[in-house]
This record gives sequence, structure tokens and C-alpha cells, in this order.
Amino acid sequence: MVERIATAVGTPNIALVKYWGKRDASLNLPANSSFSLTLDENLRTTTSVMFSDSLAEDSLFVDGEKQDLNDSKNEKSAFAGKVVNILRDMAGVRSKALIASRNTFPKSAGFASSASGGAALAVAASGALGLNLDTRHLSVIARQISGSACRSVCGGFVVWHAGEKDDGSDSYAESIAPASYWPEVIDIMAMISSTKKKVSSSQGHALTPKTSDLYKARPATAEEHVRMVVDAIAKKDFGAVAEVTMKDSNSMHAVMLDSFPPIIYLNDASRAVIYAIHELNESEGSPIAAYTFDAGPNAHIITLKQHKDKVISTLREIVGDNMLVAGIGDGPRLLGENESLIRDGARL
Ligand code: PMV
Repeated sequence: MVERIATAVGTPNIALVKYWGKRDASLNLPANSSFSLTLDENLRTTTSVMFSDSLAEDSLFVDGEKQDLNDSKNEKSAFAGKVVNILRDMAGVRSKALIASRNTFPKSAGFASSASGGAALAVAASGALGLNLDTRHLSVIARQISGSACRSVCGGFVVWHAGEKDDGSDSYAESIAPASYWPEVIDIMAMISSTKKKVSSSQGHALTPKTSDLYKARPATAEEHVRMVVDAIAKKDFGAVAEVTMKDSNSMHAVMLDSFPPIIYLNDASRAVIYAIHELNESEGSPIAAYTFDAGPNAHIITLKQHKDKVISTLREIVGDNMLVAGIGDGPRLLGENESLIRDGARL
């Protein structure tokens, strides 16, 4: 019996310049480039993948719960099945796969795990199959699980190039600097709500370009923001990083609101965070912190370690102690056999 198994850990990323809108939905090709920070292992997904002749079907367990790989409504598991198929074809392997995945995120946190999970799955599955794929290739594969997952394949400061080709081969993520380049940068996450969003990101990616007039300007604005943030990172100019980060989050949420029917992810607490950060920056005389929000109300505050206490006490007035802090991380890595979630042919 041939059994191939590998385990990898992946971490989330937070986009400072956002991806919203696709030029191709089936390949997850974005309308614009984006820029993110890959977070460290304070929040992580561990995924083990086993390919074995003894398995009768593909199966996926997330946090101990069996997922239906053929349920078209469960996007993430459908994508997981797709990625396993792509890699299996590349390796010329026919055996079925057992995938077991665990997140360390608190269940109540309301932070998406698709990026860390997608990166961990791509690395673990390709590792198990002995495919020696470089980061660019891995990011093209992870992109097909969830667009933003392709950025979590890289460590540190990451650009996802939108690309132009129809086959998506030039739409990949690339690290422009490792985590060690600017280790003072941190992300303080303020947990505002964990309720499931009414509009999934896939629905939103489709609705906004179709219905928002403001969206027409968004791809060019985002490309300009990517150039600005890359330049600011090169100069370690935190004030400029902070300004473009806040403007880009506001720009994405503006086109969301301009969609029809409108997509509204921010709530009163999110808005209170926005006002509080502007007040803090004003009282400091220059920006020491930046807010950014994904497809939900939870705030990510990007700041430098020396300002951590000030930012935390500002946020505490709004969210109490519901905060998580992460630094910048090095991206996914393969783990040893003793950390596998699958032992003796079965998941633990
Ligand atoms: O990767 P998806 O399809 O879940 O889209 C995520 C989009 C945002 O998180 C809102 C922005 C981004 O660039 O991460």
C-alpha cells in the first residue's frame, strides 16, 4: 500500500491594499493587485494530508468536523477538493486523500481562516505528493481555494500581482521583503462580531463590479495604492503606510456600500474604532496606527510595537479585552511527522 503524508502550518494575512472584484471568477483572478502582511503563528492553521490507496473517497475534517467535499454551497471545501485534484493530476497520482485541518483561532473571533487554511493545504498536499513547487507556483494553486490565500503562501510583505493572462499563470503572490525586514510592525485585531456575514466574499466580489458606478475607478486606485505602499515600505515610512492603508480600506468599503443592494460590513463599533484611531493619530501629531477592515466588522489595527500599549488602551474602550495581537510571519512551513494530525492512517 502506498501512503504519502505531510503536514504544514499556514497563517492568515491582512491586506493593506484590498482585493475586491474578480476578472475571472472560476480561476479567482483579481481585478487589481493587492498588498498584504503575512501574520505570525499566533494565529495558525495546521493541515495534514494523506494520499493512500486504502482510502475509498476524498474526505476533509476541519476542527474535527467532517465537511462535504461535494457540497457546492460549502465553497471552501469545494475549493479544497479542486486543489487536491490539481495537485494529484500534476503528480500523476490517483489515490484518494484524507485532509485534517485545525485552527488555533478562538472560535468566537470571527476571523476568516480560508487564507491560512488554503496556504497550509497547498503546502501539505504538494509536500505529500513530493512535488517540489516554488512559491510562485504554490501561490497560483492556493489562489484557487480563496484569492487571498495566495498571499499567505509567502512570508513577510507581499504583493499579489493581478496579472493579465487568461489562464492566470501571471497572477501570483511575491514577497517583497521578509518578516525580519521590519519586525516592529504588528497587527492588533479588535474582535467586534463573529456572526456569519450576510453576503459572502464570493457574492460581493461578483455584485460590486456589476452594480457599483464608483467601482469603475477602484482597480486603478488600488494599483496606485499598491505602488504607494511598496514605496512607503521601502522607506520604512510608517506614516505613509498608515495613510494609504486607511484610505484603501475606506475605498473598498465605499464601493461595497455603492453596490446594489448595498453591502455593509462595518457596524457602529467598527466606526467607533475608525474615529478613535483618527483621534489618536491627531493627538500624536502623525499617524502611529492604521485601521483596515475585510469583509466583516472586525478591525485590524496596524501599528509599531512601541505604540502597542497606547493602541490597546484606545481599543479597550470600544471592545474591552477582545483583542488578539500578531506580528509579521515567515509564511507556511512543513512540520515533522510528530506534529501530524493523521496517525496510523486515521485522523487524530
Ligand atoms: O479571498 P476572498 O475571496 O475571501 O476575498 C477576500 C477579500 C478581502 O478580504 C475583503 C480583501 C483582501 O484583499 O483580503
